[in-house]
Amino acid sequence: MIIWCIMSIICILLIIITICLRIVGISVPALKQRGESITLTCDYDLEGSRLYSVKWYRDNEEFYRYMPRLTPPQHAHKLDGVKVDLEKCTARRVHLRDLTLKSRGLYRCEVSEEAPSFHSAQTEAYMEVYYFPKESPRITGHERPYALEDLIDVNCTSAKSFPAPELQWAIDGQKVTDRSWLTSYGAKPAPQGLLVTTLGLKAPMKERLKLKCVATIGTHRRERTVVIERNSGSWHKPFNLFIAIIIANITNVLTYCDTKNIVNKFSF
Ligand SMILES: *[C@@H]1O[C@H](CO)[C@@H](O)[C@H](O)[C@H]1NC(C)=O
Ligand SMILES: *[C@@H]1O[C@H](CO)[C@@H](O)[C@H](O)[C@H]1NC(C)=O
Repeated sequence: MIIWCIMSIICILLIIITICLRIVGISVPALKQRGESITLTCDYDLEGSRLYSVKWYRDNEEFYRYMPRLTPPQHAHKLDGVKVDLEKCTARRVHLRDLTLKSRGLYRCEVSEEAPSFHSAQTEAYMEVYYFPKESPRITGHERPYALEDLIDVNCTSAKSFPAPELQWAIDGQKVTDRSWLTSYGAKPAPQGLLVTTLGLKAPMKERLKLKCVATIGTHRRERTVVIERNSGSWHKPFNLFIAIIIANITNVLTYCDTKNIVNKFSF
C-alpha cells in the first residue's frame, strides 16, 4: 500500500514536471527560395521555471543557442547553408540570411529548463528550399525550314532550377496531351545542385504553328512562345544563290576585262 502511494506520487510529480515546460509552437517555413531570408520561431511556455537554453539544429547539427546566463546570450555555430543573423536573434527567434539549396532540412528547436530539473522539450519541422529561374525555357529546332508534309521536331529545355520544373507544350493555345508527340528526356544535373529538363515535341506541320512551352514549379511559371511558318520561301534560296553566282561571274568577267585593258595599255 505504501509502495503504491509512493509510486502514485512519483507519477504525479513526473506528470507535473512534464507539463512544466512545453513548446507551444514552432514556425519553420515549408518552402523558400534560394537567396531569401527567414525567421524561425520557437514558442515555449516555461510555466514558472527558468530558462536554461534554447538550441536550434538542422538535421541534428546545432547552429544556434541562446543561454540567458551568458553575455551575450546568443551564439551561432558554423553550418553549411545556415547564415545566422545574430543581431536579429532572440530567445524565441532565429533569423537566417541568404538561403542556399543546402539550407533545406529538418529544423529542430530544443528548450531546456534551469537546474535542478534540466527538463527539456523539442519539436521539429522540415524546410524545402527551391530555386526558380528568372529565365524562360529555351526552344530549339524551330529555326530550320519546315515544309507542309514535315513533322516538326523541337525541344524545350528549362533554365537551371531546383526542383526540375514540369514542362508542357501547347500548339496554337491547345495543350499537347497526345503522348506519342512528346518525348521526355528527364532531369539532368547542372552545377550547384540545380537541374535542367528537356521535353521534345514532334507534330505535323501546318501553314503556321504557334508553339508555347511552359515550365512550372508549384505556382511559379515561365514560358516561351515561337511561331513556325511553312517554308513558302523555299525557292528563294536556290534562286538567290543563282543570282549570286551570276553576279560573281560578271564580276569575274569585269575583273578579267579590266586586267586585260590595263595589260593592253601598258603593252603599248
Ligand atoms: C532534343 O534533345 C535531345 C536530348 O538532348 C537530343 O538528343 C535531340 O537531338 C534534340 N532534338 C532537337 C530537335 O533539338
Ligand atoms: C560561273 O562561272 C563558272 C566558272 O568560272 C561556271 O562553271 C559556271 O557555270 C558559271 N555560272 C553561271 C551561272 O554563269
